[in-house]
Amino acid sequence: MYKIRRQFWLSVTVCIVAIAGLMIPFALQSETTTPVRPAILLGTAWYPEQWPESRWDADLTLMQQAGIHMVRVGEFAWSRMEPSEGHYDLDWLDRAISAASKHGIFTVLGTPTPTPPAWLTQKYPEVLRMYEDGRRAEHGNRQHFNFANPKYRELTRKIAEQIAKRFGHNAYVLGWQIDNEYAEESYDPQTKAQFQQWLKARYGTLDNLNARWTTAYWSQTYFDWSQIPIQTGYGNPGLLLSWKRFVSDTWRSYQKNQLDVIRANSDPKQFIATNMMGWFDGYDHYTVSQDLDLAAWDDYVGKGHLDPAVNGAAHDLTRGFKRKNFWVMETQPGSVNWAPINNSLDKGEVRAMAWHAIGHGADTVSYWQWRSALNGQEQYHGAIVGTDGTPVPLFAEVQQIGTEFAKASPAVAGTSVRSEVAILHSYDSRWAIQWQKHNREYDAVGEIISYYRPLRAVSQSLDIIPPTAPLDQYKLVVAPGLNVLSNEAAKNLAQYVRQGGHLVLGQRSAMKDDDNGLQTERQPGPLVELLGGRVEQYYALLDPIPVQGQFGSGQARLWAELLIAKDSNTEVLETYGKSNGWLDGQPAAITRQVGKGRITYIGAWLDEAGMSAEPSSSWSTFQRQSNPFHCRPK
Ligand code: GLA
Repeated sequence: MYKIRRQFWLSVTVCIVAIAGLMIPFALQSETTTPVRPAILLGTAWYPEQWPESRWDADLTLMQQAGIHMVRVGEFAWSRMEPSEGHYDLDWLDRAISAASKHGIFTVLGTPTPTPPAWLTQKYPEVLRMYEDGRRAEHGNRQHFNFANPKYRELTRKIAEQIAKRFGHNAYVLGWQIDNEYAEESYDPQTKAQFQQWLKARYGTLDNLNARWTTAYWSQTYFDWSQIPIQTGYGNPGLLLSWKRFVSDTWRSYQKNQLDVIRANSDPKQFIATNMMGWFDGYDHYTVSQDLDLAAWDDYVGKGHLDPAVNGAAHDLTRGFKRKNFWVMETQPGSVNWAPINNSLDKGEVRAMAWHAIGHGADTVSYWQWRSALNGQEQYHGAIVGTDGTPVPLFAEVQQIGTEFAKASPAVAGTSVRSEVAILHSYDSRWAIQWQKHNREYDAVGEIISYYRPLRAVSQSLDIIPPTAPLDQYKLVVAPGLNVLSNEAAKNLAQYVRQGGHLVLGQRSAMKDDDNGLQTERQPGPLVELLGGRVEQYYALLDPIPVQGQFGSGQARLWAELLIAKDSNTEVLETYGKSNGWLDGQPAAITRQVGKGRITYIGAWLDEAGMSAEPSSSWSTFQRQSNPFHCRPK
């Protein structure tokens, strides 16, 4: 961790020093001319509706002193914006945006749809979501709405339209955040009927669905679409995966319902985004990102401290949603209120996190929140000013970040991240492993990080992208646990290898097809021939077992696959030491050269020693070619 952070700071320093001569001061122009925004923005969530208007200017003055240039406003303020049905009050919001602009502060507007007002849920109780046990959510928290409910969509579209009409051409509104952290599904009968329709559209006939899901098992055969249940967690794997895909499509259409009306009423310069949650797997983020202009996420450490590999990977994941720079829409000002222990980040660590984000391609870092509401569920959360409205100790650090962002902005403007190594990531695979872990310690994200951490230590940058993305730019593509491999992805990977790329498949790869059914070939399914070898048998491990070979030695833990090299060109890279008898002396990693390309399969979850052991010659070459500095090339 220390090594990566030091490397990072060195890089930042080099970047800043190198561009010092080019710096030009940022000046916000008067309201009559088009305002200029800095390339990298420091921001904060601000809730003017929670405070008397007479207080706003004091807060905005302090924000300006801290170098803050963006406030995110409005995402929970529906009851203030529409106090009764069809009666909209947006004047206060107009005044808040205008007050902020006078301090050189731009606004990002949230649509207030995570928190429908009490009049709405009382009048239309059908919009409340239903838990799996059939209970309805009640008013008083947030996200109590049903994402698939037509009435709710009608009402959310109307409020989004009102706000867009009013602020869609306001030069101080940079863009839009739709809703807030999509998460909660609904299991009500109407949503279930929509799911059944969705299945009909996907599978066409029940015969096809029954075959793809192997419903002959346990007499699951369906004779009518209406017989198909919703299952989550434990159920037919084809059904589980279909439900998650339906959920992803439903979030996408929930979002598009608002997005279309904002688009129709706003300046194309205003972006449309939503705030996602890093590794959260409630829906497929690639699906939901498709209609957005910008990917953004909420970066919280929670308990403990910044781990640059874990957090850096989440930045890279988010950057991969749109394959361009992203925003950190929320991050913690020191501490949160929801972790098991809400320790504060150390002095200097908030600053490290801010630059860490910029280094990974963030164009904005925004704190949640400016000041805690005096009442409400999150009273203990970290903030930048205290209950008395004056700075807390962290304020000075935020101010330092503001000063540094302003200085570095001209140099960072227009830059983006370029990587030569990619990690492949798919929600289908993560879900498939999560539903049938086979070893309760097995964590699909942990598996990705086990590859990310050593790779990040030897490469300037990594991309995290889906397995169907174009791969030509990469020297190395690593798929840690590509459990579900669609035919389309298999073709993409085979083509990459045939065109000279190096593909590394990690344990549990290519076991399942696109319907979460077992492949009819052993792993790696459609890539067996290319690899010239396969997995003979997999084993969940009670205890670690030794592994040794060309990469040095380490231990396999949690999972070990017994491999076989069938083709004469397939080499054994690593073998297992003494363990359960079956694995003793058998291949743990194999590789095959294919023209100028190469495919490698690693069958064991290797520990850190095994992963970072003496690199092969191709890794050393890669390392030498890497730019030692972290500057983002133009
Ligand atoms: C999330 C939410 C915020 C706030 C923070 C607290 O990110 O989007 O509204 O609740 O968590 O950490």
